[in-house]
Amino acid sequence: MSDSDDDVPQLSAATLAALQEFYAESGRTGLEQNSTKTDKFCVGAVEEDWRMSQFWYSEDTATRLAEEVMQQAGEHGRIACISAPSVYQKLKQLESMRSDSVSAVLLEFDRRFAAYGDEFVFYDYNNPLCLPEGLLPQSFDIVIADPPYLSEECLGKVALTIKYLTKGKILLCTGAIMEEPSGKLMDLKICSFLPKHNHNLANEFRCYVNYESSLLS
Ligand SMILES: C[S@@+](CC[C@H](N)C(=O)[O-])C[C@H]1O[C@@H](n2cnc3c(N)ncnc32)[C@H](O)[C@@H]1O
Repeated sequence: MSDSDDDVPQLSAATLAALQEFYAESGRTGLEQNSTKTDKFCVGAVEEDWRMSQFWYSEDTATRLAEEVMQQAGEHGRIACISAPSVYQKLKQLESMRSDSVSAVLLEFDRRFAAYGDEFVFYDYNNPLCLPEGLLPQSFDIVIADPPYLSEECLGKVALTIKYLTKGKILLCTGAIMEEPSGKLMDLKICSFLPKHNHNLANEFRCYVNYESSLLS
């Protein structure tokens, strides 16, 4: 046997590319398999899947929104995060760094977040009131939601869930083009605060609230 390079099995460029893609994909399919992210609550612990319209907030935005809902919920308050996993994750991180105890639930379509146990509730906006019995009406001090699609149809359905769950306070994150329906459906006002994402979005994004908030100014 010769030691020459000729004896080394060669892969075609196409096969090599496919293998690289496979290894990259297998390392980012879910929470449990992700060995590089030691903190299961870090934003991005679950990779974005654009097929589910997933665009995660930047660290700063996730922190700002988590602090806002914590403050608004008050001590021992309950927070519902609808289709906003980064805010839920940031709440859990803040809880572990401070002495605050946070009661938060994540309503999400992506079952990878079921890794969060009892605090994960499967949610499909197409069945807005198909919720577990344990989620009682008007049982959350604040509901934060970031619907997957920029359409009145989607917002209208998510609004049914929001109004069912909230005791009153609502924080909605969605496109600037949804200002009118947000006002019409939930009496929300647009905020000056500009939420940012890890990847730049084509659509201008905004927050909306129905209570006095520093996000407004
Ligand atoms: C625009 S992203 C909002 C995520 C937010 N920016 C964050 O960082 O937490 C939309 C969310 O809706 C979820 N989603 C996708 N399809 C859904 C459905 N049919 N019903 C409810 N939520 C859905 C996605 O998994 C994603 O978390």
